[in-house]
Amino acid sequence: MLTDKFGRPMRDLRISVTDRCNFRCPYCMPAEIYGEAYEFLPRADILTFEELTRLVGIFAELGIVKLRVTGGEPLMRNELPQLLNMLTSVDGIEDLTLTTNGYLLSQFAQQLKDAGLNRITVSLDSLDDEVFKTMNGRGFTTQRVLEAIKTASDVGLSPLKINCVVQKGVNDHTVVDLARHFKGTGHIVRYIEYMDVGNRNGWQSEHVVPADEIISRIDAEMPLEPAESNYHGEVASRYRYKDGSGEIGVIASVTKPFCGDCTRVRLSTDGRLFTCLFASEGLSLKDPMRARATDDELRAMITRVWNFRTDRYSEERAASPDSKVAPRKIEMYQIGG
Ligand code: GTP
Ligand code: 5AD
Ligand code: SF4
Ligand code: SF4
Repeated sequence: MLTDKFGRPMRDLRISVTDRCNFRCPYCMPAEIYGEAYEFLPRADILTFEELTRLVGIFAELGIVKLRVTGGEPLMRNELPQLLNMLTSVDGIEDLTLTTNGYLLSQFAQQLKDAGLNRITVSLDSLDDEVFKTMNGRGFTTQRVLEAIKTASDVGLSPLKINCVVQKGVNDHTVVDLARHFKGTGHIVRYIEYMDVGNRNGWQSEHVVPADEIISRIDAEMPLEPAESNYHGEVASRYRYKDGSGEIGVIASVTKPFCGDCTRVRLSTDGRLFTCLFASEGLSLKDPMRARATDDELRAMITRVWNFRTDRYSEERAASPDSKVAPRKIEMYQIGG
């Protein structure tokens, strides 16, 4: 089994299939920076479906069992269901899922299911339209996303998870409503502590609402109890409603970092390999692949990178929270969260 310097195996691959997005969430792609003139990657720099499928096959041979398709917004990639179809043919992938903002999901849900997608995660930061409009940066209301959640659930993409990034003073007053709305539906809301990913969101620690506080606010109205992890290295801590009507999760990467169990590897839209969400550099697999590297050569490159991996950014940040020497980091939309 392939392990890194701290003995962590490589189990979970996340591939970003486009750096474009139809939202402009200020915590990810602030509209002031990503305006009309912003140049996203040209087509030639983006991995093709064949290249992605080849790499996923190599990763699967090296131990990857879980695959998440992300973006930017993955549904903005042309013919995405076809890619999923190709990925389902890869041996060894036990769990194929996708993270989307839901805006285009109603029209794609059935095709995604038919292509072999097992389940789906939809981002939804608030049910309050005014808050949501601010948080997607485009003035969109929640209606389309809520309809898409229903469609995805109807076609059998389950369990369906709902990701909510919590920002103090922006949407934290709406977290209980979000939990209440989905309680009893079988969907799992997960609250994510706002993170200092990338360099462009102006993150400050005062903007973070600690996961414990989120849990206690929900627990005060709808009593909760902790639940066991589903698998080793799960990022979300689970809580179930005491009345048996479902569960929620919190992802406390700021207040309770989980680097010790981090088995995740990421492939950026332009084919670079990143071993941490907060890394600044990634090794290009696209360049050697296009220079006719063999599978053995690619396997050796990935193995070397993972064997030398020492990333534990969130734990280091927790140890010195006010460190101002933030290195240049990859942006979330290039690597998909
Ligand atoms: P499940 O497979 O459904 O358990 O989901 P997941 O654990 O893969 O979680 P998901 O991809 O939905 O991640 C939710 C969010 O957690 C991401 O969008 C990130 O914001 C955060 N997150 C995920 N992985 C990491 C990680 O390795 N490090 C840090 N710091 N945050 C992460
Ligand atoms: N902190 C926490 N979560 C974030 N996401 C994007 N940027 C951040 C951030 N700075 C979330 C999105 C989505 C997932 C891909 O990552 O809202 O749910
Ligand atoms: Fe788009 Fe997701 Fe980034 Fe929002 S968080 S801008 S939906 S990629
Ligand atoms: Fe993994 Fe890096 Fe996140 Fe730590 S900060 S959990 S090493 S991706």
